[in-house]
Amino acid sequence: GGSIAIRGRLLWFDADPAEEGEGQAVRYVADGLVVVDNGIIRQVGEASVLLPRLRSETPVVDHRPHLVMPGFIDPHLHMPQTQVIASYGTELMEWLAKYTFPEENRYGDPAVAADGSRFLIDELLASGTTTAGVYCTTHPESVDAFFTEAARRSLRMVAGKVMMDRGAPPALLDTAEIGYQQSKALIRKWHGKGRLDYAITPRFAPTSSDVQLEACEALAVEHPELHIQTHLSENAAEIAFVREAFPWSKDYTEVYERFGLVRPKALFGHCIHLSERERAALAGKGATAVFCPTSNLFLGSGLFDLAAARAAGIKVGLATDIGGGTSYSMLRTAAEAYKVLALQGQKLPAFDAFHMLTAGNAAAMGLDNRIGRIAPGLEADLVVLDTGSTSALRRRMGRVETLEEELFALMTLGDERATVATYAHGHRVYDRSATRAKPLPP
Ligand code: GUN
Ligand code: FE
Repeated sequence: GGSIAIRGRLLWFDADPAEEGEGQAVRYVADGLVVVDNGIIRQVGEASVLLPRLRSETPVVDHRPHLVMPGFIDPHLHMPQTQVIASYGTELMEWLAKYTFPEENRYGDPAVAADGSRFLIDELLASGTTTAGVYCTTHPESVDAFFTEAARRSLRMVAGKVMMDRGAPPALLDTAEIGYQQSKALIRKWHGKGRLDYAITPRFAPTSSDVQLEACEALAVEHPELHIQTHLSENAAEIAFVREAFPWSKDYTEVYERFGLVRPKALFGHCIHLSERERAALAGKGATAVFCPTSNLFLGSGLFDLAAARAAGIKVGLATDIGGGTSYSMLRTAAEAYKVLALQGQKLPAFDAFHMLTAGNAAAMGLDNRIGRIAPGLEADLVVLDTGSTSALRRRMGRVETLEEELFALMTLGDERATVATYAHGHRVYDRSATRAKPLPP
């Protein structure tokens, strides 16, 4: 509750700079003010215009000379993988079997799930990420733990129980019927509570039988408003496995199409090795492909072809994929996206990158009516960024002349140390100076 006004260099995107051009898309107010009331943005504009009209009791937080942007959005990550990140030497299928499944098996313990959720959310907020698309584990307790922690910080979050009825250790499996019932109960318990949304979450085709995918279809039909999240076409061995397991399907994407899982607000992680037919199917059905560059590099999965996805008309998100991914920071993620595209002769201008981290990811998740821009009526999720947070950045800034150059240096050299403060629903949920002042543990 209550009011607050935040002053700084405001930056957000009213359109996609790749489509509309910078002039239409980029909104920058060098000395701006955001007025927030009960968690909602009420006014945005020049500080010189808005300050004299502000109610005297409204506190003003002056973040000048720092940038104030919409909170970053991370459309694909795994809550139970904070202790899998940086596991050595494997690619996808072996990485799952050797490191990830044994670790996820611990998350049936509510204390483990609570600890993992607290750590993850601390890390996201310190990186300026205020919304994420989150995979929990097959255990309903892991979803309870994550949503409990997200609600405690008043965050907008999308999460779901992983459904997986084969191809993993028995203790981690549900069944088509149990997965359906547990998902139903979690939807009733959590979906639409505060800012929490439930996502139907079959892990990926290799770990679901036809019968389980039919159960997912039933959930999807019964809940057309829900997100769906899964993985698609990440790795050659995975694709070969799907070809064997679903001999009736002409390609990987058709498996999900057959069960009604390709639709708006369906988020497909990776989408690296798609055919033109598959791209057209995703685009035609309004689904989203999620580019996870640090994960794709770390697991050696391949290079996401952004130009082909855009040409096909697919909505694209950009995500960390913790813990296949190697950084919680969306700045690091944008930097690695730039390099993945550079290897393919493609470009990622800074304005496009910051659009993707904010309004672009909001649209990719179907949440653009709530978050992703600094505009009246939207929820007050904001990140305050210091473009001189390290000596390397400060040194580079000495020769930077334009906002675009400044942003490109920020994404290329920056990380969580650039986060000065993070606001969610108008509350300050991260404060760098408070973190720094904390005494060291004994
Ligand atoms: N495919 C199925 N499960 C996973 C996962 O946990 N991480 C990644 N990167 N890919 C997957
Ligand atoms: Fe993933």
